[in-house]
Amino acid sequence: MWQLWGVELLSVMLKNYFNARATHAIYCTFAFEFFNTMATIKFQFEDQKIESKIFTITKGESVLDIAMDENIGLHHNCGGVCGCSTCHIYIHQGMNSFQEISDREEDFIDRAINPKINSRLACQCVVENDLDMVVIIPDQTALNGH
Ligand code: FES
Repeated sequence: MWQLWGVELLSVMLKNYFNARATHAIYCTFAFEFFNTMATIKFQFEDQKIESKIFTITKGESVLDIAMDENIGLHHNCGGVCGCSTCHIYIHQGMNSFQEISDREEDFIDRAINPKINSRLACQCVVENDLDMVVIIPDQTALNGH
């Protein structure tokens, strides 16, 4: 009789042990996948006095949304409707994170200060892919009513 209870008890303990191990493994795998797939955006600044900042990103947000949420100084005079060029940025890494540039965006980039091949408008750069990106914010002191 005691031997049967002992076997039963041992059986339950082993089952709980392996269930706990399995649960732990599932949580660890989930946590690893979760943190490992979170893409980041790094803001660098032409103004050397401002330090770079890194944030995690969520699909569907624009670079302007992220900048505003994180108190990054970036002008956006038209309110983010592709009607000015004050949110002009340079995409140093991660250009494939965004939809292709539109003709309208290109027109406004042509009016920006010092446009380059990697220029974009932050309000038009909506994150579509989980890629790490690096964005350079032009010197904002040169902007007034652009
Ligand atoms: S805020 Fe005006 S074009 Fe982006």
